[in-house]
Amino acid sequence: MNKILVTGGAGNVGGALARKLVENRNYEVIIADDLSTGSKSKLPSNTYKNWKFVHCDVNSYKEISELMLVNHFDFVFHYAAVVGVKRTQENPIAVLNDIDGIRNVLQLSKNSSVKRVFFSSSSEVYGEPVELPQHEQTTPLNSRVPYAVVKNVGESFFRSYEKVFGLPYTIFRFFNTYGPNQSMDFVISKFLDAALRGDDITIYGDGSQTRTFCYVDDNVNACMKIFEENHALNDVINIGGAKEYKIIDVAKTIINISGSSSKIIHLPPLSEGDMTRRMPDNTKMLKILNKELISLEDGIKRMIDHPDFKM
Ligand SMILES: NC(=O)c1ccc[n+]([C@@H]2O[C@H](COP(=O)([O-])OP(=O)(O)OC[C@H]3O[C@@H](n4cnc5c(N)ncnc54)[C@H](O)[C@@H]3O)[C@@H](O)[C@H]2O)c1
Repeated sequence: MNKILVTGGAGNVGGALARKLVENRNYEVIIADDLSTGSKSKLPSNTYKNWKFVHCDVNSYKEISELMLVNHFDFVFHYAAVVGVKRTQENPIAVLNDIDGIRNVLQLSKNSSVKRVFFSSSSEVYGEPVELPQHEQTTPLNSRVPYAVVKNVGESFFRSYEKVFGLPYTIFRFFNTYGPNQSMDFVISKFLDAALRGDDITIYGDGSQTRTFCYVDDNVNACMKIFEENHALNDVINIGGAKEYKIIDVAKTIINISGSSSKIIHLPPLSEGDMTRRMPDNTKMLKILNKELISLEDGIKRMIDHPDFKM
């Protein structure tokens, strides 16, 4: 029996991971979340008995230590964080406080002999692109805004805990991951929600900024394989799709697939944090996953049909 902690496990990606983990009866999964953006509706089904939810702020040493020192986890997935472009810009101090959570998780993992800690970093560490596609080892990091800086500092903490204390880690650099349980701060869920309601779809700037997208199932399947097949030990790996879409085309595709009458409205560009382009070199991920990624069109259709996607 492996005991696994998923912080942020009531969120979009952490919840999807937790729901996948509980399918294996040899895993006992504890989900720690403060429900700031997460929701209990994203937790695994009660038909599974091998999981538990604990309301916990990982940035509070008292709260997370009570959980980690009692449980002696084998593996930890640290996914809790303040997320979303708008929310992170409006709450920079709360974002910076996430450094406390990273340090707490590492310190307690080291002290309780955790076998490996997995960290959800972000494509944001690459900042405005210096080169494309963005490669884990060769692309220089260009983190500027607090959210990106925190992920960058976080990565540095993980490498340092391995170097000094021998604590094994894997850093996932997630690129735009979308799915039915995503909060409305993210582009796909926001656009789809507006399209299904027939509301205007608003775009910052002219919409020529591009993004790549990864359906949450591909993210979870890749991370599960990395964990279960022991890949990317003490390493960093991009997790994302590599096909670029202009934001304006994403809006048009969503309107098209959903058969919506929504109009596209342009707002002034965001002053910071809205990168012009981003694209992973996902060679390492594809080699591990060993299958084609779900296309954006298919992902949108899956979201529309998914019982968890609620407007
Ligand atoms: N979804 C993406 O496109 C994407 C891209 C890059 C990185 N990431 C990273 O992946 C992780 C998961 O993101 P997501 O998209 O699922 O977002 P999400 O907001 O759905 O999930 C984050 C979860 O963390 C919880 N949380 C936040 N602060 C907490 C705290 N102090 N203590 C306990 N719980 C806390 C929230 O309640 C929420 O359930 C985050 O670390 C995020 O930075 C996501």
